[in-house]
Amino acid sequence: MKNVIVGQSGGPTSVINSSLLGVFKTAKDRGADIVYGMVHGIKGLLDRDVVDLSQRIKTDLDMDLLKRTPSSFLGSCRYKLPDIVGNEKTYEQIFATLKELEIYAFFYIGGNDSMDTIKKLSDYGAQVNSPIRFVGVPKTIDNDLAITDHTPGYGSAAKYIAATTKEIIRDGLVYDYPVVSVIEVMGRNAGWLTAATALAKGEDCEGVDQIYLPEVVFDVDKFLKQMGDLLKQNRSVVVAVSEGVKVADGRYVCELSDHVDYVDAFGHKQLAGTARFLAGKVAEKYGVKTRAIELSSLQRCAAHITSRIDVTEAYNSGGAAVKAAFEGQTGQCITLKRVSDDPYMCITEPADVHFIANVEKKVPLEWITDDGTNVKPELVHYIHPLIQSEISPLWVDGLPRHIRLHVKSTIKK
Ligand code: F6P
Repeated sequence: MKNVIVGQSGGPTSVINSSLLGVFKTAKDRGADIVYGMVHGIKGLLDRDVVDLSQRIKTDLDMDLLKRTPSSFLGSCRYKLPDIVGNEKTYEQIFATLKELEIYAFFYIGGNDSMDTIKKLSDYGAQVNSPIRFVGVPKTIDNDLAITDHTPGYGSAAKYIAATTKEIIRDGLVYDYPVVSVIEVMGRNAGWLTAATALAKGEDCEGVDQIYLPEVVFDVDKFLKQMGDLLKQNRSVVVAVSEGVKVADGRYVCELSDHVDYVDAFGHKQLAGTARFLAGKVAEKYGVKTRAIELSSLQRCAAHITSRIDVTEAYNSGGAAVKAAFEGQTGQCITLKRVSDDPYMCITEPADVHFIANVEKKVPLEWITDDGTNVKPELVHYIHPLIQSEISPLWVDGLPRHIRLHVKSTIKK
């Protein structure tokens, strides 16, 4: 038997199911017997919650729907495997289940935290001389994975963010009184997503007034002074701010307000409320109308506005992972390598997962303006190809049609 297993982990994206399809189809084309899916990632494997994907993905229409369905079809988790030393029982359990399922290759679609799972499983596999190959498929809207030029999921989120920013700017201009809109964008400690608001600027749009990335220390007083200056010149002020901006003492701006933060298994605080806090400060100081616009989950799964480039690269990354594993590689994560800018072209290449797991790639400071309130054209130039072309959902009755899992676990007792 040549069975494979695949899981999805971390935050969802619009194209994570394209990667799943890439794994599924390529594995089948290369002779895999059963393609199993872990329900809720590695946690599903630990709970013996595993499905045979062929029971749900049967027709070309199912595959088409899967490609166009946002979020993680298999469900996801934010779960960190414990260190190997001292926790061998957990690894014995995982490897026993993989043996029972006759697994030949294991694929995990996720970001830098999720690649920790590939790292640990391939390390343990090497220790016990397991023949199973472990390969990661890159995914995150945050675009903060090391080595790869960018990550599948980022282009579509950037496209949504840029398009929505244009709409917010248009909306802000209608009244004859001042309005300050603060757009809060995800991305944790990396500003790639927030930088995508710069793409709104063009011949039909004046663009955002300021962009605040987490790579630059945030100063609330300076921000308020800048808002005051902008209000003297413009009726509508629109600024983009990353959820991950921090003040000089290391606290996130969202921690300056007094709401309670949730912390996940990776030790990440839930970052939300930055725009609300800053908009409140502006309203208090200048007595103007403000809007706090938290893009939140809207930017992650906006499959009605995916980038075709992103969908294709997500699919290819899944396929490349299968190819790498079937050619004998393990402990790898697929990366995208930009080989040409004009015309834009990326190829896939496996890289050692040890250099990717748990590493956050930030926006280079040389791509941020010296005053720290905007991004340079080089950054816009980098993002631009990633948002090109569209893939439409399959519209049914006026709404996008999605595919749902609805399959019982094959081995759960
Ligand atoms: O997947 C990464 C990310 O989108 C971050 O940008 C964001 O901070 C985080 O997910 C939020 O995740 P959750 O869904 O766990 O709140």
